[in-house]
Amino acid sequence: MTTPAFATPRLLRRALVLSLPTVAVLAVMVLSYGLHVLVAAGLWLLAFAAIALLIRRTLRDAAHLALWARNLAAGGEATPPRLVPDSAAEEIASSVAQLRHAWHDRQAALAALARWNDGLFETLPDPLVLLDRDRRVVRVNRAALGLFGRDPSDRDLAAVLRTPAVLAAADSVLAGGPAEGGEFDLPVPAERSLRFSIESLGPSPASSAVAVLVLTDLTAIKRMERMRADFVANASHELRTPLATLLGFIDTLRGPARDDPEARDRFLGIMHDQGSRMARLIEDLLSLSRIEQDEHTPPAGTADLGRIVKDGADALTPLAAARSMSIDVGIDPRIPLVAGQADQLAQVVQNLLDNAVKYGRQGTAVTIRLEIAGPLPDQAGPALRAGPAVVLRVEDCGDGIAPEHLPRLTERFYRVDSARSRSLGGTGLGLAIVKHIVGRHRGALAIQSIPGRGSAFSVFLPAAAG
Ligand SMILES: Nc1ncnc2c1ncn2[C@@H]1O[C@H](COP(=O)(O)OP(=O)(O)OP(=O)(O)O)[C@@H](O)[C@H]1O
Ligand SMILES: [Mg+2]
Repeated sequence: MTTPAFATPRLLRRALVLSLPTVAVLAVMVLSYGLHVLVAAGLWLLAFAAIALLIRRTLRDAAHLALWARNLAAGGEATPPRLVPDSAAEEIASSVAQLRHAWHDRQAALAALARWNDGLFETLPDPLVLLDRDRRVVRVNRAALGLFGRDPSDRDLAAVLRTPAVLAAADSVLAGGPAEGGEFDLPVPAERSLRFSIESLGPSPASSAVAVLVLTDLTAIKRMERMRADFVANASHELRTPLATLLGFIDTLRGPARDDPEARDRFLGIMHDQGSRMARLIEDLLSLSRIEQDEHTPPAGTADLGRIVKDGADALTPLAAARSMSIDVGIDPRIPLVAGQADQLAQVVQNLLDNAVKYGRQGTAVTIRLEIAGPLPDQAGPALRAGPAVVLRVEDCGDGIAPEHLPRLTERFYRVDSARSRSLGGTGLGLAIVKHIVGRHRGALAIQSIPGRGSAFSVFLPAAAG
């Protein structure tokens, strides 16, 4: 801190004013007691000098204090000046120092709060956009950066969101209108459905932002809604077809075929098939819903997959034989137990073998192999990667599946050739059930197929611990 240049004229003026009572006393002594004027002048000079000397330090301390306070106000880190001990100036300096300390603490608390708010703003999962009064983007959070694919700061909102409804709502709110909201679709960078709401924030001394635009991604919810609606439509359709057939035959049996025993036998056979198809569909739907319900709780027990594979192959052998096919079973004797629920794993084996027999060419062989897993597929999760795993592989020599169908094969009711699947009595739920069971077992399903040659379905499962 530089030494303040306190002005000498001010010192002299003050000393003069303070010496005025002395002048009055001296004047009385000159006039009444005959004190010589020169002596009186000498005495006054002495008093004047003494007063000037006395107030000089006080004035200097006051100037130091003023300079120090000015430095602090300007944000400086000046050390307190050295003042006359036990003086009023020193007391003031100590109070200012305390004030300064409290102010520093408050500033630190405000800075921490601002950092905390910043962190909150950044980590909120919904995209947020702060706008200034001219509709320019002041700031966006991380989620908004991910949504837009770039930082639109300092640009007009229209640079990233061209939707007229959003821009009109922003203009209205910025013009002082009430909060607004709605839904819209964003075609780029990836198609999304979003809900928006825009609200005024009021002026802030720390930011030029006066309104906040909050976006909520509805894409996943909309997809789920569509899937649910599709599922209900598909299930109803699957049930309606055999039901219509059944009702048609009942009418025929009551009417034209009433007295035709041969037709009646044939029709009853068809009705039985259709009834069984409906029963199978309902059975599959219930089984899928049960598996989905406990998909988040992995099975607690262990299962002997070798035994399950042998039983599954035995059960399917008559069906294979009916198509002049054979089932070739190969089980590695070192295969460990797997962490799993036996009846669900039996369903996996049965559904995969059923498909291989149904969609394999007549007279060919279906192979089922159970081995210690080698390299895991990309979609393998942490439970599979954590330790030893086994792989169950079912291969057929059939028409195979074109690559464009592979990603959708495990969707409910998805069939490559619906007419063929239905004519074979399929419900289109077999692979969906397999996928959910494998998911519950923390395993992975990999499908490979060469059109014209055949398909291979591999199920990877974690071995039981210990
Ligand atoms: N091994 C395979 N070879 C060729 N296509 C297959 C094979 N396995 C499944 N697919 C195709 O995948 C579709 C879905 O199979 P999924 O097992 O889910 O249903 P499905 O066999 O038609 O009926 P379900 O199994 O419920 O009786 C089948 O309709 C078929 O088009
Ligand atoms: Mg099937």
